[in-house]
Amino acid sequence: MKKLRSQEWYGRQDKMGFIYRSWMKNQGWPHDLFEGRPVIGICNTWSELTPCNGHFRELAEFVKRGVWEAGGFPLEFPVMSLGETQLRPTAMLFRNLASMDVEESIRGNPIDGVVLLMGCDKTTPSLLMGAASCDLPAIGLSGGPMLSGKYHGQDLGSGTGVWQMSERVRSGEMKLTEFLETESCMHRSKGHCMTMGTASTMANMVEALGMSLPGNAAIPAVDARRNTLAQMSGRRIVEMVREDLCMSRILTRPAFENAIRANAAIGGSTNAVIHLIALAGRVGVPLTLDDFDRLGASLPCLVNLQPSGKYLMEDLFYAGGLPAVLRELAEAGALDPSALTVNGKSIGENVAEAQCWNRDVIHPFEDPFKSHAGITVLRGNLAVDGAVIKLSAASPHLLQHRGRAVVFESIEDFHTRINDESLDIDENCVMVLKNCGPRGYPGMAEVGNMPLPPKLLRKGVTDMVRISDARMSGTAYGTVILHISPEAAAGGTLALVEPGDIVALDVAGRALRLEVDDAVLAKRRAAWSQPQSPARGWEKLYVEHVQQAHLGADLDFLVGSSGARVARDSH
Ligand code: FES
Repeated sequence: MKKLRSQEWYGRQDKMGFIYRSWMKNQGWPHDLFEGRPVIGICNTWSELTPCNGHFRELAEFVKRGVWEAGGFPLEFPVMSLGETQLRPTAMLFRNLASMDVEESIRGNPIDGVVLLMGCDKTTPSLLMGAASCDLPAIGLSGGPMLSGKYHGQDLGSGTGVWQMSERVRSGEMKLTEFLETESCMHRSKGHCMTMGTASTMANMVEALGMSLPGNAAIPAVDARRNTLAQMSGRRIVEMVREDLCMSRILTRPAFENAIRANAAIGGSTNAVIHLIALAGRVGVPLTLDDFDRLGASLPCLVNLQPSGKYLMEDLFYAGGLPAVLRELAEAGALDPSALTVNGKSIGENVAEAQCWNRDVIHPFEDPFKSHAGITVLRGNLAVDGAVIKLSAASPHLLQHRGRAVVFESIEDFHTRINDESLDIDENCVMVLKNCGPRGYPGMAEVGNMPLPPKLLRKGVTDMVRISDARMSGTAYGTVILHISPEAAAGGTLALVEPGDIVALDVAGRALRLEVDDAVLAKRRAAWSQPQSPARGWEKLYVEHVQQAHLGADLDFLVGSSGARVARDSH
């Protein structure tokens, strides 16, 4: 076995060896633990302000059991935790900051391998990105989805139910008291959102990339088998250190291609596009928006889960989980079975015997839940570097559409005017929201799925074409064009759209156009001025360095990896 990295701290008989060991001994660790056991970091995003990860201290104990059993030395450490529902202005503003915390915490400490405890949306990409920039052996462990929400005998999905019910309140169909009553029915157990939102999508991505043990994505947080998986992950990471199985051997081009295909098959979140591109950038795998269109757009959606369908993650687990979905893809030739995974086997070997127990939840490839349902990339003068639409959650009748733009200059402008009964809008209009991209918001908030005007909701309108440089929650739905790049705040054509302009959407032709003469646009551009940058702190650093959405919205100076080596001692 290669010399353990941790022995550069603990394997020394000098002043620095004394310092590195002696202070650790105040926790009661016997001396022999420092004599060559693999030190396993447990990177924990537990926080009472991240409710989806609130059970992670308990989960970490099961990881530790496994690490001890395999002869390792587990050491748990905290990193910045991003709670999607509590953090303002948006957790995405801090994804890259958290990834820096993860990267430096791993690199700077005597860690040989790391278990990444991830759950709420941004905690997954931030941990993967940070760990990838160190490139030690690492294994992902998701916290698991909550039990299905239930209200009056019906399923109630995280997020999706909120968007649906709040529209019913706005149209007068549902009483506010009834809406508020559902609060405690929607989220009734520990775990993360149980729709195919971003957290579940990213848990599936971790598994599809080969970065977790099989079954990671769907085991409910409260199911005893989640703890078993934690223990097995603890055992396995010690072996991975002995095998020197680093992240870069798993996060290869075929692994990312498998993840893109899996995202199409599960009806996954558009957020996966941003996070996978950013992660690929950390390990030097070229991945572009076009890869999502080329590999995923023509694939069918197999999984009937909210927001694209009706079931929830608990149902996906009982139906066979992601392994059953991946087997469908593999047998249809839509998966690279040779991609290596953290258990040392190929993904093809892992899913070869996977069973499906409910064909209404996981459809067969030849009889899919929805055909051609992946994420599609649009281009045109309105999105020179691209924009995305999630077909499985869009209305087929709006995929070819021309409409008059109703323009909102900012999210505040939108909130001020959307409920105004005199707003000049009808169901054929295109709602345009500006200045909600990476620099503009800042942080590219999940506001792209703009609620519809109440007067149209009362008419029975349930969907309209909406376009923006924002993201949308993975739990949201509708004919929503997102991630327009370049964003308005970076001077993209989106900044130049004026009320009454005609916007043309042609999903089959992959086009998003503003039907305004170039000469007129040039005149508008000359009159446009860049929004003011934040004055100080993280927001300033972020706005000055964040890349556009089509590049994954990572900071420019974080792309790539620095490895795990630290040459100098601390004293
Ligand atoms: Fe945490 Fe949805 S809010 S996973």
